[in-house]
Amino acid sequence: MTTHSVPRGTKDILPSEIPYWHLIESTARNLFDLYNYQEIRTPIFEHAELFEQGIGQGTDIVEKEMYTFTDKGDRRLTLRPEGTAPIVRAVIQHPELIHHQNAKLYYCGPMFRYERPQSGRYRQFHQVGVEYIGESNPEADIEIISMAYRFFEALGLEKLTVNVNSIGDEISRPVINEAIRQFLGNTKWLEKELCPRCLPRFNQNPLRILDCKNEVCNQYLSGMPDIKTLQSAACKDHFHSVIDGLKRLKIPFKVNPFLVRGLDYYTRTTFEIISDNLGAQNAICGGGRYDNLIKKMGGKSTPAIGFAFGIERIILALQAQKKVIKNTHSLIFIAPIGYTYYSQGMQMLDTLRRSGFKSEMDYAQKNDLKSQLKTANKLKATFVIILGEEEALKNTIIVKNMKTGIQTEIPSKTMVKYLQAQT
Ligand code: HAM
Repeated sequence: MTTHSVPRGTKDILPSEIPYWHLIESTARNLFDLYNYQEIRTPIFEHAELFEQGIGQGTDIVEKEMYTFTDKGDRRLTLRPEGTAPIVRAVIQHPELIHHQNAKLYYCGPMFRYERPQSGRYRQFHQVGVEYIGESNPEADIEIISMAYRFFEALGLEKLTVNVNSIGDEISRPVINEAIRQFLGNTKWLEKELCPRCLPRFNQNPLRILDCKNEVCNQYLSGMPDIKTLQSAACKDHFHSVIDGLKRLKIPFKVNPFLVRGLDYYTRTTFEIISDNLGAQNAICGGGRYDNLIKKMGGKSTPAIGFAFGIERIILALQAQKKVIKNTHSLIFIAPIGYTYYSQGMQMLDTLRRSGFKSEMDYAQKNDLKSQLKTANKLKATFVIILGEEEALKNTIIVKNMKTGIQTEIPSKTMVKYLQAQT
C-alpha cells in the first residue's frame, strides 16, 4: 500500500505548535483592534488576472510562482499568493467598506507561492496583513510601521531591524530607472556581469536590480546615488515626515536605500522587518505604500499603505530565541476506581467542563488507581479526582495534587469551589 505525505513546501501544523499560532493570531487581533482595524476574510482563490494586473507581470510571483488552474467552468483561477490585491478587489466591490474615505482592514490566512522550499520558505504559508486605505498623509505610514513594530514588541521578539526606504512616485520612477541605467552604463559588459535575473530587469524595471541578493550585482551598484535624491520634492517631504514621526514614537529603524521590494504596486514608502535570529529567509514582515493600485484595478484614485507578516517565520524566530509557548490551562483527571463509578465520573466531568475546567477521564475501564495515576502523569494533569467505594459511601472525593503528592478528602458537592480556590 502506498503511504502519503504532504506536498513539497507544505506542512502539517501539529498540536504542539498550535499555542504559537494562537498567541500570534490573538496578539495581532487585540493590537489591531486597539488601532481600530477590522477583520476581513476573502476567498482563497481569485481570478488569475487580479494578481497578474495587481502584482505586476514582471514580478517573480506572477512570472513563476502562481498556482493557477482552470476550473470545470473554464475559469482561470489562482490560489492567492498575497493579500493586498484581494483586499483592493473587495474594497472596489463593496464601496460601503469605506467610511469617511477610509477603510482600515486586516486579514489572516494561507497564501500560496511556487517557490523553492527551504527553512522559512514554503509553498503554502500564512500571512497576517493590514491595509490602511484612503489616507495619503505620512501619519498613515507612521501608524502602519509603528503598529507592525509594536506587534513584534508585544510578542517579545528580539533582534529586529526595521528597514525603511522610499522608491518615489510615478513621476520620479522614470527618472530613477534612467539614472540606474546610466549608472550601470554599457549594456555590452552587463550581459556578462549581471545575474540572469537582473539582465532583463535592466530594460524592464531597473529599480529591482537594487535589491538583488547577488554579490556581483551588488558590487556594481555600490556608489550608486541614493534614489531618494532623484525624487520629487513632495516625495522627499513625505519621507522626511515619516522618518520624523518614527523617531518621535521611538521606533528604532534604519534607512536602507536599496530596499525596493518585489511587488510592482509600491510607491513612496517601503519597509521590511528583518529578524537577526533567522537564516537566509529573515524577512518577517514587509509592506509599503501603493497609491496607484486601486485606480489601476478599476477603482477611484485612492492612496493606501499596508504590510503583511509571515506566521511561520515568526514562530521560527520565537523558537530561535528559545521562547517556549505552551497551552497553559491545567488539566484535571478523574479516576474512578472500578466501573461502578464511571457514571458518577462522567457527571463530574460534565460539571467540571461546564465550570470552565479542562478535564479528562480514561474510558478504557481500568480498575486500578496506579495505572490511572500513570496516565494522569503522562497527560501532565495537575489534579486527580479519585472516586472510590469508601468515598462514595460518604459522598466525598479525594483530590490529589500531582505536584505535591498531597491528597485531600472533600465533600463531592464542594469539588468546583475547591478546585477554583486551588487553580
Ligand atoms: P511579501 O513581502 O511578499 O509582501 O510577504 C510578506 C511576508 O510574508 C514576508 O515578509 C514573509 O514573512 C512572508 N512570506 C512571503 N513568502 C513566504 C514564503 N514562501 N514562505 C513563508 N513566508 C513567506 C506581501 O505579500 C505584501 N502583500 C505585503 C503588503 C501588504 N504590502 C502592502 N500591504
